[in-house]
Amino acid sequence: MLVPVPGATTSGRWCGRCVTTVRRLASRHLLCHGGTALAGRVPAGGRRPGVAAVACPIPVCSGCAAPLGAGAGSQPAPGRPRRPGLCVPRCDRRRPSVAAAHLRRRTSGKWHTHPPEVLPLTVGEMDVQLAPPVRDALIQAVEAGDTGFAGPQSTARYARAFRRLAQHRWGWDGAREADCHAVPDIMRGLVGLVEVLTRQGDAVVVNTPAYPDYFGALEERGGRIVEAPLSAAQRLDPDTLDTAFQAAAHSSSQALYLLCSPHNPTGTVHRRDELEHVAALARRYGVRVIADEAHALITWGGARFTPYLSVSGSPTALALQSPAKAFNLGGLNGALAIAGEEATDVLARLSAVMPHGRSHLAGIAHCAAMAEGEPWLDALLAGLEENRRLLQHLLHTDLPAVKYAPPDGTIYAWIDCRPLQWQDDPAELFLTHGRVAVISGRPYRTGGDGHVRLNMATTPELLAEAVRRMAHTARRCPG
Ligand SMILES: Cc1ncc(COP(=O)(O)O)c(C=O)c1O
Repeated sequence: MLVPVPGATTSGRWCGRCVTTVRRLASRHLLCHGGTALAGRVPAGGRRPGVAAVACPIPVCSGCAAPLGAGAGSQPAPGRPRRPGLCVPRCDRRRPSVAAAHLRRRTSGKWHTHPPEVLPLTVGEMDVQLAPPVRDALIQAVEAGDTGFAGPQSTARYARAFRRLAQHRWGWDGAREADCHAVPDIMRGLVGLVEVLTRQGDAVVVNTPAYPDYFGALEERGGRIVEAPLSAAQRLDPDTLDTAFQAAAHSSSQALYLLCSPHNPTGTVHRRDELEHVAALARRYGVRVIADEAHALITWGGARFTPYLSVSGSPTALALQSPAKAFNLGGLNGALAIAGEEATDVLARLSAVMPHGRSHLAGIAHCAAMAEGEPWLDALLAGLEENRRLLQHLLHTDLPAVKYAPPDGTIYAWIDCRPLQWQDDPAELFLTHGRVAVISGRPYRTGGDGHVRLNMATTPELLAEAVRRMAHTARRCPG
């Protein structure tokens, strides 16, 4: 039997042998990894013979960082730091699918929307353990019975923690306490801003394919969506934006541009020069920019997130920021609405329509994440970066017809299944024939048809299993 061997260093790249091994483990439903290398064979009931360790970047188990079979929830191996890679905390090679079984004990929607045999890689929830500082802060608050209402001082603390984080991660010092207003979550902040800024029928420019909740939230409140599709390379297209801004401004008392940065679902991380161009265009047409920066903390390698409010020419803009996505705190939500220098009056109006609804406990979790969670976040990002490479390799090998460009940010992979030439929605076929749940691209509007969005914030084994199921679907359903 193949066993993970702890202690090997990570190479940062996937060797063919490791990919094969992970795939083999996944196909046997031995969904467990407790070390960084995979090698050797263990005779039944016997001790491990000389094992040749292979350098491999599988993240160590965040819960136990221990060898396979060390037992559920055990402590890290001596001398080994606890690392929050993408992993589940229980390791037990005698129980098949133990990782998925453990995750299924969670009661969130991701794990209970589908029957148990379906592997869900859907909503923006990650298969990770909480960052230890967040967990500790929550335990302390619960033990102290500190579960009351949020007050002004907790908003100030939140804003200060965000400012420090923004300084440290992006070198941006612009989010002064006076420019921030705490809101219950990103979407409610967005809806509040749209309510105070626009009149019925005013246009909101959105880059498609776009996060589907935008459409419902904006249209239900009388907003009129003007689509500005991304380019074929999934980047902001200056000419398309120009046309959309012009049309929007022409027909609105106040036109808005909802910039999703980084972009969900494509994972595009907008460059500073692109954002400067947006700011110039917005000024030319009198379009107000609202930047949804929900995924700001999730970028890798060379891609650098640029806060929109740090871009020259953005003083009338507003941004929405939250550490919730990066720290897996969807169930403990909160966010900040941040105003550019010439937009602080908007915050006063926002607080009139949205004075309540923030969770004090969420504020505690977010402050702990922002103040002390960066080492955890860095390890998470390293794991995600490995996953996007692994996914590329697996798709290239097992499902070469689909198109996938590894993203620079977010936890999503946006997969173009049109080459499979299916009449039906790929997400439905993957669910029906492969028992793997991904999100259909259709509700993302222009550019979404024939695509699926896959959440890759899971273990390498589950990712491999998902691709195996998708490839099985492709064999079952020739186009
Ligand atoms: C781009 C984007 N904006 C907003 C949201 C929703 O954020 P919240 O739950 O804070 O309203 C999501 C959720 O996935 C998202 O991807």
